[in-house]
Amino acid sequence: MAIIGTDINKAKTLLQQGEAVGIPTETVYGLAANAFDPLAVAKIFAIKNRPVFDPLIVHVASYRQALTVADFSPVAQRLAHAFWPGPLTLVLPKKAMVPDLVTSGLTTVGVRSPRHPMALALLQALPFPLAAPSANPFGYVSPTTAQHVHDQLGDKLSYILDGGPSAVGVESTIVGFEGAETVIYRVGGVSVEELEQEIGHVRLALHASSNPRAPGQLLSHYAPRTRMTLQPLASFTPEQQNQLGALVFRQPVGSIPRTNQIILSPAGDLAEAARNLFSALRALDALNVSLVWTELVPEEGLGRAINDRLRRAAHSA
Ligand code: TXA
Ligand code: MG
Repeated sequence: MAIIGTDINKAKTLLQQGEAVGIPTETVYGLAANAFDPLAVAKIFAIKNRPVFDPLIVHVASYRQALTVADFSPVAQRLAHAFWPGPLTLVLPKKAMVPDLVTSGLTTVGVRSPRHPMALALLQALPFPLAAPSANPFGYVSPTTAQHVHDQLGDKLSYILDGGPSAVGVESTIVGFEGAETVIYRVGGVSVEELEQEIGHVRLALHASSNPRAPGQLLSHYAPRTRMTLQPLASFTPEQQNQLGALVFRQPVGSIPRTNQIILSPAGDLAEAARNLFSALRALDALNVSLVWTELVPEEGLGRAINDRLRRAAHSA
């Protein structure tokens, strides 16, 4: 069983021995291993039960270290300087140092520098970058606490570094470059508005398992075990509503029992809602209802990332 602790040196030693370790980041917890060691990276895929066609993000201590794994265009450099350390992953031409297993054979690699003091201290202490997907079984909700990691992967890990609850709460925004265009493959912790303020128009090319540029963006990702629906609440009779759970933005709704309603942010704050989202999705499974009604939040700022995850979570219903 995994130990949860705050010993950066212990995490460092395990990673140097080729083990996989749970680590905190500002977005969600990651399952990290030496990005330059294919055997260590293979453990990540095995522990997560992740298909090998789904590439991993390489986490770096600094822009300087990023230059050892990828080639930066002027726009990419500009974005790295504006948003790193932070929740932005850049998909760039990979350098030969990066094993094919990390990138699933693609010629590109996803790179980011996380804005979390413990993750950065660990990365700075190591002579290699860390490949890390979110530390959840493939297809399930990402973890935002060390305990979430322990709950699902605790029997397959020896150590989880505890850096407190993730401050952002949704995964990084993934951006790539196609010709002269900047393209968003996954909406996340850096908003579209923030990106456009920095570099002008960006194109959204989200979803679909059919998108070869973001192979992990399966529609039913993020599904809790409990079924979720985005159908209008009015399509349920009051008697039916009485049987539902709800995941709502700021206030209770309809005739759904109050104790079955999880509120993301009573103040209507999108950053707070993002921070609470994945814990809330996990809490749905404890409500003991067979269907959870949910609503979208305003489609702006972090709201885009929240809505993306809600749509995917509801898709399997
Ligand atoms: O916030 C995050 O990004 C978290 C923390 C731990 O950093 N990580 C994360 O990793 O969400 P993961 O593996 O759960 O999601 C990474 C996504 C996958 O959908 C994968 O397909 C995409 O990034 N990706 C990675 N490398 C890529 C590449 N070279 N081209 C296109 N998509 C890539
Ligand atoms: Mg993931």
